[in-house]
Amino acid sequence: MNKKTFYITTPIYYSSGNFHLGHCYTTVICDAIARFKRMDGYDVFYLTGTDEHGQKVQQRAEKAGVTPKQFVDKLYDQIVELWKTLDISYDKFIRTTDEYHELTVQKVYEKLLKSGDIYKSEYEGLYCTPCEAFWTESQLVDGKCPDCGREVTKQKEESYFFRLSKYQDRLIKFYEENPDFISPKSRMNEMVNNFIKPGLKDLCISRTTFDWGVKLPFDEKHVAYVWIDALTNYITALGYLQKDHANFDKYWPADLHMVGKEIVRFHTIIWPAILMALDLPLPKKVYGHGWLLFGNDKMSKSKGNIVDPFFLTERYGVDAIRYFLLREIPFGSDGNYTNEALLVRTNADLVNDLGNLVSRTTAMVTQYFGGNIPEPNAYNELDKELINLCTGTLAKVRKDMDNLSAPDALTDIFRIVQRANKYIDETTPWTLNKNGDKDRLATVMYILTECIRFAATLLKPFITKTANTIFEKLGLTSPDNFDGLSEFGKTPVGTKVNKGDNLFNRIDVDKELKALDEIAAKQNSQKTEETPADDIIDITDFAKVKLCTAKVLSCEKVAKSDKLLVFKLQAGNEVRQVVSGIAQYYTPEYMVGKTVVLVKNLKPAKIRGVESNGMILCAADGKTVVFVTPEKEMDSGKEVR
Ligand code: MSP
Repeated sequence: MNKKTFYITTPIYYSSGNFHLGHCYTTVICDAIARFKRMDGYDVFYLTGTDEHGQKVQQRAEKAGVTPKQFVDKLYDQIVELWKTLDISYDKFIRTTDEYHELTVQKVYEKLLKSGDIYKSEYEGLYCTPCEAFWTESQLVDGKCPDCGREVTKQKEESYFFRLSKYQDRLIKFYEENPDFISPKSRMNEMVNNFIKPGLKDLCISRTTFDWGVKLPFDEKHVAYVWIDALTNYITALGYLQKDHANFDKYWPADLHMVGKEIVRFHTIIWPAILMALDLPLPKKVYGHGWLLFGNDKMSKSKGNIVDPFFLTERYGVDAIRYFLLREIPFGSDGNYTNEALLVRTNADLVNDLGNLVSRTTAMVTQYFGGNIPEPNAYNELDKELINLCTGTLAKVRKDMDNLSAPDALTDIFRIVQRANKYIDETTPWTLNKNGDKDRLATVMYILTECIRFAATLLKPFITKTANTIFEKLGLTSPDNFDGLSEFGKTPVGTKVNKGDNLFNRIDVDKELKALDEIAAKQNSQKTEETPADDIIDITDFAKVKLCTAKVLSCEKVAKSDKLLVFKLQAGNEVRQVVSGIAQYYTPEYMVGKTVVLVKNLKPAKIRGVESNGMILCAADGKTVVFVTPEKEMDSGKEVR
């Protein structure tokens, strides 16, 4: 019997610079879904790749003094390395500079021209080069690009247009007939109310002001608009309009385009309209996930708040990072990344729950049965509770994954782990051993090893390497499917376990946070030497920051932190509470009476549970930190500018 197919895609990544943890989010989620579906019997095709054309790439290459191709080749190597590090199991990697892709994009343009969906005219609009997107005046936020907040420029050029407006009614009808096409639901409303209802305008789909792109076959002065070039990857990768189109016949339409929320518009309006024009079936679902935030801001290179995935995987192991991304962020919503959340999550779930269960069980089987998994005896009610939990979990996890919720799936799998740990406390195997109750002890050990086998099988799509290590410890072959979960009791009696090293080592959170801060401070002090041109702000940006002098009324250490001080500051008529991370450099007594510079209009935040209303300006060189103070005596509350 032919297997059911499942075609899943990530967006293709911009080859524009360092990749950060936010980028890894989409890819890791898709990887877990793809792996789950494969184990669940589907014939999966998982596609990812790089988006290598466009003005931005051309400009960056010029700046770097290399050709655009040399520039993207380097970044391609980097991202392939990143996906290898994160154990991403894609079936195909497409580059938009691959020849077959470029040729097919040309064929697509020709087809659209023939069908009358493309016409030539003139475009005048506001263009955001970093996002490669045109905006209308009314879409701008404070006169800037609504996606990245950067300057837009007026651009006028002869262009080809796609008759997007023609598809407005068909799109609305399609949404109505396929209410799950855009998920989560809120994103569907956003698309309809913000974009479709105000009326779709024809889309400019060619550019003449640069040439790093796919040349239009019928007018070589023009290159294809990067978004059309990029979106088409989902079908060119399968062989659409190519000699070998077996994959296209087999896998299209896509079951799932997973994308970040800011690019839902391209995938749910422009892409379906193009497909309609090409007379092709539409993808079954576009899921717009939330962002990984870093201090409440989207993690992005332009904003300079990158968390380097190579650094994190090297330091904590790939599965700690995969687990965090999959477990911590409520799916569909934005979620905050903090070092502390990563460390706490790793300690709680991976070290305490999973690591402990595996090491305690293998240690006891080793100690009580010479390392051989013993034969169980009659199961009592308590045992049956665990057995039912194990055998019932796959169905739950399958449902969670159908809802694309990895956090729910992991929560359900960890119920086995947590229940089994509790079972150890309830059955107290050491007492059974002491009392010579070998029969019961054998049953308890067997139940525990089976619980681990169930959990590890289900964890395989999520924490790939750890799951395999657990199977090595159990002396079992790591399975490629869920067949072994059809019944409890499949572990052969007599299998030899191997305790080995801990799966994860406990992290001393306070010590580690301090070490991370030191590393970050060092990196920042190195970075300040060169300010990239695109980080320059104008006077109006600077004027947004309200600074003033403030006098320290009182200062204390924050409980359980050797880094933080909490201040009461007099700023004119106001008294403010501010938390600052300078406890290693100043004593509270020294600070009282000093005049500092306060950032007044910073959004209030809770730091280690303590409310902080502003920030004290300091200078740092990686070794020490000093606070900034007026050169002469100055009253509090005076503007600093
Ligand atoms: N090249 C386009 C996609 C074209 S698809 C036909 C693009 N590339 S991107 O590199 O900017 O983004 C790739 C993916 O990473 C997107 O899904 C984007 O939402 C995701 N992320 C980038 N930063 C992110 C976070 N901080 N958090 C979560 N995902 C984010 O868009």
